[in-house]
Amino acid sequence: TINEQNPDVENEVTKNYITVGFSQLGAESDWRSTNTESMLDAFSQENGYNLIYKNGQQKQSNQITAIRMFIQQEVDYIVLAPAMETGWDSVLGEAKEAGIPVIIVDRRVDVADKNLYSCWVGSDFELEGKKVAAWLKAFTEKRGISADDIHIVNIQGTIGSTAQIGRSRGLANAARANGWDILDEVSGDFTETKGREVMASFLRKYDNVNVVYCENDNEAIGAIEAIENAGKKVGADITNGEIMVVSFDGVNQEAINYAKEGKIACIAECNPHHGPRVSSLIKTLNSGGIPDKFNYVSEKLYSSFDDISEIVVDGSTYTIDELE
Ligand code: AHR
Repeated sequence: TINEQNPDVENEVTKNYITVGFSQLGAESDWRSTNTESMLDAFSQENGYNLIYKNGQQKQSNQITAIRMFIQQEVDYIVLAPAMETGWDSVLGEAKEAGIPVIIVDRRVDVADKNLYSCWVGSDFELEGKKVAAWLKAFTEKRGISADDIHIVNIQGTIGSTAQIGRSRGLANAARANGWDILDEVSGDFTETKGREVMASFLRKYDNVNVVYCENDNEAIGAIEAIENAGKKVGADITNGEIMVVSFDGVNQEAINYAKEGKIACIAECNPHHGPRVSSLIKTLNSGGIPDKFNYVSEKLYSSFDDISEIVVDGSTYTIDELE
């Protein structure tokens, strides 16, 4: 399974190379595996790095242990892809005390002292949520579907992670503003198995679900299976019995195929290719420069339905692309 992939890596140490300790949070999704590959590629010996990679297996305590080990090993830089936002103050304080710069990647950390880390690079998760919600609003209005007829369930990501917090907030605010009914929200931990289980239980509990907001593609794949197993149809005709699935990432090939078929109606891209970005931040720091504190990656919105060609969120226009 995905969770057994990405074992720990410790390269032979070469003198004069930059030594990086990378604590990855786990291997819960295809996005995560692609992200790990991007990081391992960027921090290769050919690129002048000694890498110590630790897979946190979804446990913050494992990540804290890994960071303490990196400090003991006197690495030059610590890179942290945190499972959740809170709980990092002490260990990042220890890294600062040891004089080791920390770069945060993907999700964010919520620490009282922002100087505990040098910089962050990743996605604007709330914007991703707002984009999917804006697409849903534009699409349903175009098809003459009333807000009163929209009944949503949210299969959330790992609770307390920036990806979950931002995407859930994007939906909640849009639902409030548009008068949509959110029937329920339960975490699917960004996995296919939990996505399937959570969707099956939603279908047993509610007979009027017609939109499933999945906080990543692996959950969406599981949800589609649960919907079809229950003898229901996935699609965009939501006032005639079909259930619409919307999602995030755009990395997993099965999900991309579903999006092409219209089974996933809309996907907000979440870009996993952070390896070269983190490497470039380290190069800046290493040459005495000060990179921007927060570095956002720009991302697309995908749908195969051509009812609408663009949406506007917070004054910016986003065109809707087709997945290739
Ligand atoms: O933090 C990014 C999220 O984490 C991705 O959307 C999800 O697939 C992953 O597990």
